[in-house]
Amino acid sequence: MERLSEIKPVAERFAPGGPLRGSLRPPSDKSISHRAALIGAMGAGESEVRGFLDSADTRSTLVAVAALGARVTGEAAGEEGLRLRIAGVGLRGPAPASIDVGNAGTLMRLLPGWLAGQESGGWTLDGDESIRRRPVDRVADPLRLMGARVRCRDHRLPPLEVEGSSLRGVSYEMPVASAQVKACLIFAGLLAEGETRLREPEPTRDHSERMLVAAGADVSREGDEVVVRPASMIEPGAIEVPGDLSSAAFLIAAALLVPGSDVTLTGVGVNPTRTGLLTILERMGADLEFMAEEGKGGEPLGSIRARHSALTATEVGGAEIPLAIDELPLIALAACFADGTTVIRDATELRAKESDRIETVAAALRALGAGVETTPDGMAISGTGGLRGGAIESHGDHRIAMLGAVAGLASSGGVSVDGMDAAAVSYPAFGADLRALTS
Ligand code: S3P
Repeated sequence: MERLSEIKPVAERFAPGGPLRGSLRPPSDKSISHRAALIGAMGAGESEVRGFLDSADTRSTLVAVAALGARVTGEAAGEEGLRLRIAGVGLRGPAPASIDVGNAGTLMRLLPGWLAGQESGGWTLDGDESIRRRPVDRVADPLRLMGARVRCRDHRLPPLEVEGSSLRGVSYEMPVASAQVKACLIFAGLLAEGETRLREPEPTRDHSERMLVAAGADVSREGDEVVVRPASMIEPGAIEVPGDLSSAAFLIAAALLVPGSDVTLTGVGVNPTRTGLLTILERMGADLEFMAEEGKGGEPLGSIRARHSALTATEVGGAEIPLAIDELPLIALAACFADGTTVIRDATELRAKESDRIETVAAALRALGAGVETTPDGMAISGTGGLRGGAIESHGDHRIAMLGAVAGLASSGGVSVDGMDAAAVSYPAFGADLRALTS
């Protein structure tokens, strides 16, 4: 008899079946949900999180904060995710624990910053196969400069072990533009003695800064530096999580690529550090309409209407990369349908995601009939007016699985996706939402 872990999920097939039409609110933001749970756990007293994302990744973070001593209670609140109450342990109160981060890179990179500054205690952070291939020296090295005691496998990979120690503020020039590294060091800065100054090569998502300021922390921007001053306590109070643009992006892409489509996504977080995709798609000729909605909890909000469009090729690089980092696979997909050759460069970071997304995106698109050449820091995609279809493998990467599904709807022959279950990492209702828009 096969063991459960050996049974491979059956491939799911996505066939062209007419336009996508209608309106929906995408699932809540994954980045902001991780931060809400962590910052809620760091808080003094109780905080309330509305619209917490219910997904595999964010559940890992809830289990982690519970292991650290936070009390989390909650209920489902329909389309808007979970409503949670988090009784925090305080900035200096996490209990020693072994943490399984599952597939969640954000949890693996952010949490050590908080733990490293504790007076005492020890923690081990480990995760799934994908996590074990993703570098953590990017947080371990600067934390050590602050005085942290951190160990990782082969000096760069999980498991990561942290022992609490006293930290001092540093001035640190980040070698990679990474919001995860920035957030980790901001957390450590709250516990360090003196001021911490962080300079990022390009601006990255600033959800942690916004949430911490709302919680009373002294985190500010001075020119191109984030400045963090120590805190004795933080009080997160109420946190609202908007819809996730990175999830909405799959439906936006489907609407642009499937003839006759007209889709509106409501309640989407449109923080300017996240909207690179929209700028790039507009440059490619996408018919996108944006309507501002009343912002909630320090994050701007809006509705995005996307209609089927004829696209032209573009070049993407430099400061645009961090603003669209998780959506670059979709730019590559859109490029297959665009007129001309699209070039993505300066995106080496794609190799350190849930899979090596330069290789997995190129392999998937090639398997469906595209012409893609990879480079060390990106790829060039020849637009051929469409995709034939075929079969792809998700490599356990949620964004590759959903890319395959969208490609299937837009292709001439349909796409079968092996490992579609990976979508549950960020968007468990993805299949149901696609069906709702196509029926
Ligand atoms: C995230 C930041 C990005 C992104 C990831 C989530 C975050 O990673 O790719 O999906 O929540 O801070 P990097 O900051 O490492 O680029």
